[in-house]
Amino acid sequence: MGQDLQKEVASRKTFAIISHPDAGKTTITEQLLLFGGAIRSAGTVKGKKSGKFATSDWMEIEKQRGISVTSSVMQFDYEGSRINILDTPGHSDFSEDTYRTLMAVDSAVMVIDSAKGIEAQTLKLFKVCRMRGIPIFTFINKMDRQGKAPLELLAELEEVLGIESYPMNWPIGMGKELGGLYDRYHRQVEQYRVDGDERFLPLGEDGDLAEPHAIQNSSYYEQALEEIMLLDEAGNDFSEQKIADGELTPVFFGSALTNFGVETFLKTYVNFAPAPQPRTSNEGEIDPYMNKFSGFIFKIQANMNPAHRDRIAFVRICSGEFDRGMAVNLTRTGKSIKLSNSTQFMADDRETVNTAVAGDIIGLYDTGNYQIGDTITDLNKSLQYEKLPQFTPELFMKVSAKNVMKQKHFHKGVEQLVQEGAIQLFKTWRMDDYIIGAVGQLQFEVFEHRMNNEYNSEIRMEPIGSKIARWIKEEDVDEKLSTQRSMLVKDRFDKPLFLFENEFALNWFHDKNPDIELTSLL
Ligand code: G4P
Repeated sequence: MGQDLQKEVASRKTFAIISHPDAGKTTITEQLLLFGGAIRSAGTVKGKKSGKFATSDWMEIEKQRGISVTSSVMQFDYEGSRINILDTPGHSDFSEDTYRTLMAVDSAVMVIDSAKGIEAQTLKLFKVCRMRGIPIFTFINKMDRQGKAPLELLAELEEVLGIESYPMNWPIGMGKELGGLYDRYHRQVEQYRVDGDERFLPLGEDGDLAEPHAIQNSSYYEQALEEIMLLDEAGNDFSEQKIADGELTPVFFGSALTNFGVETFLKTYVNFAPAPQPRTSNEGEIDPYMNKFSGFIFKIQANMNPAHRDRIAFVRICSGEFDRGMAVNLTRTGKSIKLSNSTQFMADDRETVNTAVAGDIIGLYDTGNYQIGDTITDLNKSLQYEKLPQFTPELFMKVSAKNVMKQKHFHKGVEQLVQEGAIQLFKTWRMDDYIIGAVGQLQFEVFEHRMNNEYNSEIRMEPIGSKIARWIKEEDVDEKLSTQRSMLVKDRFDKPLFLFENEFALNWFHDKNPDIELTSLL
């Protein structure tokens, strides 16, 4: 098995797609799945107007609002690689979920709308990838439309994101004038809207076409050649090492909607994207190729399939091999758990998974055993992977059940959605009234919707506005310090914290009580 395991692990490419909403993430995902044979028609591409939805948009609320709320996982094979795509919500209100997903991947694909350039959410997500030092591949989309000039887009990448770039290909015209892509890496021109063998025209030694062709008569071709010369002279050098270190992003131009440049992108990506990398734990770096199984839970989601009413814990396997039925240790509790009920995610289906290796994502049916950030392993009893980021919530609501007779549903719903990480839970100090906290407003809407639909619990939400949350030590608790402007509450682990009305209230408190240490999450 040893050699097989090595080969299997080395074939894994696990990445997340990040973008600002509407840049084309869903459209590209679907194209990739098509190439992988994971879906049969692109008809499943999200059509907000046509009533069809992308396979990656699982949840009802996503369908209704046309936004991607939670991250889902898709797997397919392509040219000897097994690819795991982790979809991420584009909307900034769900950035916590996205951050956790980015902890589970080895590389990221950043999709940019050529007319918009770097947008707010792209920048935010990019920074997280940077922090983790993972390779980032850039796809500049919508070249079938008039957008910013390619050189301008490159400059923006370097200036706004502060990363070196290397264009793997270069557009010949754009919008209505899009003629093709000059592919620097494969040394060929890929023609737009030309099918079959004629689509690709090889380049000669001098960088021009090897055989004369009508496309050479276009002024856009001339311009592309000039710009390529400029890039060759003044641009960054291609460096595989820099890509691996996340210091240089290979840039691909294309149009997802017209399926142009996407397969070339995929082929090249598979060449350069890293296989599973060692992961940091409390016991040092863990080698993905070792025989012992280990992984961590980066996401829990209830009711993915409303018909089944189930709850799934998503595990990123970090080392070794998973075999259905194996016994592992859950480090947090020290308990042994038999992993018999597992699933993997295909584009439009899920199926029972019997084996999986480092790099893969599996789903475990969860009856309440797991929490986000848990490590499971058969290596030893103390291994714990790095903590996953949790954000300090900024918006708060008091929440209660509208119907007092339905308390049971209410509590079950709150408990499950909190464990999922969909929302954070706090309680008033004395009365234990529920207060929920979020990073973005949409989280509340999703919470309300899901309480209603999945737990049959109508809720009352009373906004208490934005607050600054700061935790304190238990020994510093003094109820007299609790006021309207600095409210003493506890989190779901009963740890004390203050919710300050604003920066002023926080500073005032700090001046009055300099010995009380105030801490935040991220
Ligand atoms: P997202 O997941 O990043 O939010 O973006 P999504 O793929 O849903 O694409 C957003 C919109 O951009 C969609 O149009 C989609 O058809 C369009 N789009 C994606 N790629 C391209 C491209 O390469 N060229 C052009 N011209 N458009 C592209 P929509 O009108 O918002 O939705 P729909 O009704 O067409 O589904």
